[in-house]
Amino acid sequence: MSFATDCIHAGQEPDPTTGAIITPIYQTSTYVQQGIGEHKGYEYARTHNLTRRSLEKNLAALEAGTDAYCFASGLAATQAVLSLVKQGERVVCSDNVYGGTWRLFTKVLSRYGILFDFIDTSDAAAFEKQAGSFKLLWIETPTNPLMKVCDIAALAAIAKKQGAILVVDNTFMSPFFQRPLELGADIVVHSTTKFLNGHSDSVGGVAVVKDAAHAEWLKYVQNAAGAILSPFDSWLVLRGTKTLALRMPRHEENGRTVAEFLRGQKKVAKVHWPGFTDHPGHAIQKRQATGFGALISFDLGSRDAADRLLRHVTLCSLGESLGGIETLISHPATMTHAGYSQPERDALGIGDGLVRISVGCEDADDLLADLGRGLAAV
Ligand SMILES: Cc1ncc(COP(=O)(O)O)c(C=O)c1O
Repeated sequence: MSFATDCIHAGQEPDPTTGAIITPIYQTSTYVQQGIGEHKGYEYARTHNLTRRSLEKNLAALEAGTDAYCFASGLAATQAVLSLVKQGERVVCSDNVYGGTWRLFTKVLSRYGILFDFIDTSDAAAFEKQAGSFKLLWIETPTNPLMKVCDIAALAAIAKKQGAILVVDNTFMSPFFQRPLELGADIVVHSTTKFLNGHSDSVGGVAVVKDAAHAEWLKYVQNAAGAILSPFDSWLVLRGTKTLALRMPRHEENGRTVAEFLRGQKKVAKVHWPGFTDHPGHAIQKRQATGFGALISFDLGSRDAADRLLRHVTLCSLGESLGGIETLISHPATMTHAGYSQPERDALGIGDGLVRISVGCEDADDLLADLGRGLAAV
């Protein structure tokens, strides 16, 4: 089936009891059994829930995986995937990832004896020279918030050479634009909170796999640790993915319009968007993805300038998160990347004047007018 058809149908059958075309919200904690050990394959809702399972099958199909496991948030999915690594083993992570991922790795999982190093993964050859041996490589591409592009196939080959696994956080692109498992990655993670759900009304996460051993372990951890996605959230994301193939082209079209508009503004020092032909990762992005996405960051030079813009836009809502149908604008230094110290942010290039925008599906002229009002106040 084509991607657009899978968005609407994969993992979903009409309800066997009523014929309902939409998978019901199986809001139950347990299932009645017929006798000792005799049941219909459903025992307890942490372990089995049909709404969640439908979503997992849907997302596995969209990411070209063999299976998927949904969790209570993107970070819960990340934590579950990291349980593939044992004490004393080394994880290498892109130096430019979602701040919450960095916080989980450095402040929480490092306490369990997992070793973490953060290295620039946007130049695969330079990365290979620096990387040393590792068990798991974690990347985002494009990276958050500086939109650096990493070569998934090249990094997968580097990981494979040493028997390590490559995990790609594909939240920014969604499987509509990029399918890392087809490029050699082993596991894909999403914050389903973002483009997959698409309507800013659910928090969730997923890990999609293609290897039977990874599937078995993640299924085990999902039940054993229990950070499951609720039936209602599963239903919301299932509803969201139905329109993914309709929403993403519009997100990107608006993204391009906004990126080009920002680039033409004197008050904007730099615009980071991989769709520009002179973006250092443009050629790789073109090769490994079918689009450039709707995430853009731009530099206004100072915190004061950023604050003025953020206070004067009204259609672009100032808020954490991204990937909703509404345009969201944020300040990485004090929001997504607040966990980093100032010197750490400076070293990465996440300045106080940096603003990130997740361009929604509104009318592009209205967005430009709003951004123009914001920039006039800078
Ligand atoms: C790229 C990326 N990955 C993971 C996460 C974490 O997801 P969640 O907030 O659903 O835990 C986020 C959250 O903003 C994100 O932007």
